[in-house]
Amino acid sequence: MFTREEALRLVEGASADDLFGPAEPDRHPEARQRYRALVTALHPDHSGPHDTRAHAASADLTRLYDQWRRTRPVVLHTPRGSYTVGTRHAVGSVANVYRTDRHVVKIVRNPALNPLLHNEWAALRTLRRFTDEHDWLRPYYPELVDTGDVRRGERAFTVLEPLVDGFVTLADVRRAFPAGLDGRDWAWMHRRLLRAVAGAHRAGLVHGAIVADNVLVHPAQHGVVLAGWSFAVEEGQPLPATAKSITYPPEVGGPVTAATDVHMAHALMLDMLAPNEKQQRAFARGCTQDDPARRPDAAALLAEYDELLEELHGARVFRPFALPETTGA
Ligand SMILES: Nc1ncnc2c1ncn2[C@@H]1O[C@H](COP(=O)(O)OP(=O)(O)OP(=O)(O)O)[C@@H](O)[C@H]1O
Ligand SMILES: [Mg+2]
Repeated sequence: MFTREEALRLVEGASADDLFGPAEPDRHPEARQRYRALVTALHPDHSGPHDTRAHAASADLTRLYDQWRRTRPVVLHTPRGSYTVGTRHAVGSVANVYRTDRHVVKIVRNPALNPLLHNEWAALRTLRRFTDEHDWLRPYYPELVDTGDVRRGERAFTVLEPLVDGFVTLADVRRAFPAGLDGRDWAWMHRRLLRAVAGAHRAGLVHGAIVADNVLVHPAQHGVVLAGWSFAVEEGQPLPATAKSITYPPEVGGPVTAATDVHMAHALMLDMLAPNEKQQRAFARGCTQDDPARRPDAAALLAEYDELLEELHGARVFRPFALPETTGA
């Protein structure tokens, strides 16, 4: 803690390096602590609303701290490599995803949740082994590049192959089509999602969080990647944790099975499709029944869904899909 006088003496006329130390990348936690302590000392709650000198110093302090952070990137180290953390790409349920020059790095926001990242590493490694034998399924899952297993109290991180150029999430798609999707556009997304889910089940895994944010799609190439494996478990186990933002099927809390993912994928389908897609919606409702035993099996669903599509639209044709251009306004 600093007094007002100490804070003024330190901040007035100082450079970013004077205040936060030399150009060492790993000084971020210390710098943040120092910044917060100084901001508190100069805050109007302490110095009073008319203390213009403290106000000016506080503005300088924030400017210098921003400058310091911009010029000292965070570098994460593992025994296999170093990763310079760039701009934030996305905010997830337990982690933030940042760009690096060649990858993305997923950093858990709260070290208490490191075990969820460890859990995801195990799932991604299982999928990796599975797709060694079933290589056509490889593009459906994220690729683990490296893992940051850290000391207690630090934040674990995962280095992943980047899915950035041309990829959007189904949440982005949903926002871009507020009236819901045409069933013919949903068709390719769902066929591929079902394939990813069925593959995971063959590998013995339940994803446990099939929601719009965790499905990445590449509209131009009709690609689908099922991401967000922190909550995954082996079939028959309970989920390691649940997220408040997710509406789960009734069995969650107890052991989950492939049927749990079937429910979630089709609840997502109901959310994505336009209301007038009556037949596809009826199909999805059959897969979201409360009793897991009544839901169809993911592998059988692939064939059933194809049959439905053929009945509705005849032979399959490639249908271009794109998100509407945003004006940026
Ligand atoms: N490999 C990747 N490349 C680019 N963006 C990604 C990648 N993986 C995830 N993302 C983006 O980052 C967001 C957060 O990632 P992710 O879903 O893995 O983290 P989380 O929600 O915190 O954890 P989880 O979903 O495993 O509980 C995703 O919604 C997606 O937009
Ligand atoms: Mg997620």
